[in-house]
Parts: sequence; C-alpha cells; structure tokens
Amino acid sequence: MRKKIVAGNWKMNLTPDQGASLVKDILKEKLELKYNQLVVVCPPFTGIDSISKLLEDNEGTKVQLGSQNISEKNSGAYTGEVSAEMLTSLNVRYAIVGHSERRQLFNESNELLHKKVDAVLASKMIPIFCCGEPLEVREANEQNDYVKKQLEESLFHLNADIVSSSLIIAYEPIWAIGTGKTASADQAEEMHAFIRSLLEEKWGSDAAENVSILYGGSVKPDNAPELFGKENVDGGLIGGAALSADSFLGIIQAMN
Ligand code: PGA
Repeated sequence: MRKKIVAGNWKMNLTPDQGASLVKDILKEKLELKYNQLVVVCPPFTGIDSISKLLEDNEGTKVQLGSQNISEKNSGAYTGEVSAEMLTSLNVRYAIVGHSERRQLFNESNELLHKKVDAVLASKMIPIFCCGEPLEVREANEQNDYVKKQLEESLFHLNADIVSSSLIIAYEPIWAIGTGKTASADQAEEMHAFIRSLLEEKWGSDAAENVSILYGGSVKPDNAPELFGKENVDGGLIGGAALSADSFLGIIQAMN
C-alpha cells in the first residue's frame, strides 16, 4: 500500500542553525502521523549532520531525512560531489533526483539521472524522482509525451520489485514551481493518473499501486487539502512553504 508523503525541499536556504531550529519547531508539534504517513525534510548538505542528530534524539518520530541531490559516483576525484555512502552514514534515507532546477540550471540529463537513481537504490535509499514539463510544452499540450520520456529514459530499466518497494515520483510542472501558480487539482490528478497508467503498463498494477506520486509546485496549506484529496495525488514535494514550521505543519495536516 502506498504512503502519503509530505517532503520539504529547502533548496539553497537555511544555515545549519536555522535548519535545526526549524526542525525543532516541527518536532515540538508531536506529529501524530498515521502508519501510512511520512514526513521528509531535505536540507542543504551542510544541514544534514545536525538534523540527523536531532532526529536520532527524537526516536519514534516519523520525520526522515532526504538529500536534494546525490552523486552518481561512489567515491574518488569528483570535487564538490557527495556520495550515497556519505549520506547513508548520516541516516539519509531519501534522495531527490532530477529536480527541475538540477535539470535546467545544472544540465542534468535523463541519462545522468538514470545513473543517479541506480546509485541511490544501490545504497538502499529511496529516490524521489522528479519529472515535469516547462510552460511551452504545457501550452502545446505535449506534457504527457514529455513526462513519459523522462520516466522511460531514467526509470524504465528498473525491475518491478524495486519499483514497488523503493520508488517515489514527484510530478512538478516547471511553470508552477516558485511562481505561486499551482496546477489545478484536476490538472495534477490528470497527470498523476497518466503517470500511474505508465507504471502499470510497464510493471503491472501491483507495482503501480505501491508508488507514491507527489505533486510539487506552489503547494501551500490552503491548496494542499484539495490537491491531496485527489485519488492519485499521494502528497507533496514542498519548496517555499517548507521553510516555515507553520506552513509546513499546515501542509502535513492536509494528509489527513
Ligand atoms: P515551491 O517549490 O513549493 O516553492 O513551488 C517546489 C519544488 O521546487 O520542489
């Protein structure tokens, strides 16, 4: 059975101290998450160590750690990169792979993301694989083909067992990220249902039913309930609204 998930992507925001104080505020709330609900925070690399310790001291919380990026390499002369082993040693269990900012600003290709997904899975972490179309593709009504290609080229080499147990997908239309422009709940549902149909075609209905598909792009406490209420929207990947405890907690509430 798939999980409901709210994941916060802090991007290049918050110093380690600021991040730790945000997580303390979130933990203060004593989240009563249900067995099938999960909260993930994805700080910048510099914040991971202190937050990892905070979460360890609060054992029993269902808040987990994720990274915003990961190297496809295991180790060696790759200046500036961070490996899966380094992340798992700090209890990082999830890794965002293929965020549109990495694709657009850092030229990450579907081919590279295929390798990153493999690096994440080889370390028994779970990729939060991002897909989503730019505005001109949406305007030309070609979003389905665009997203299908992203999935085909980066995920279709995986087997059904791995997909079923260890994959999260985040649909993030680029025109809705950080713009205040959210996809309507119906637009999100339409794409999520399409993605699930692709998963089913490729890996069968059991695997397709087990993959959480998150929506990302200007999710806020006031639009989250409608989005998360849709059958194929299993939660959200949250940027701006994950930077304050109040709004992040408001979005977490919307999982109920
Ligand atoms: P946003 O970002 O919520 O600020 O639109 C979402 C994301 O980029 O993951």
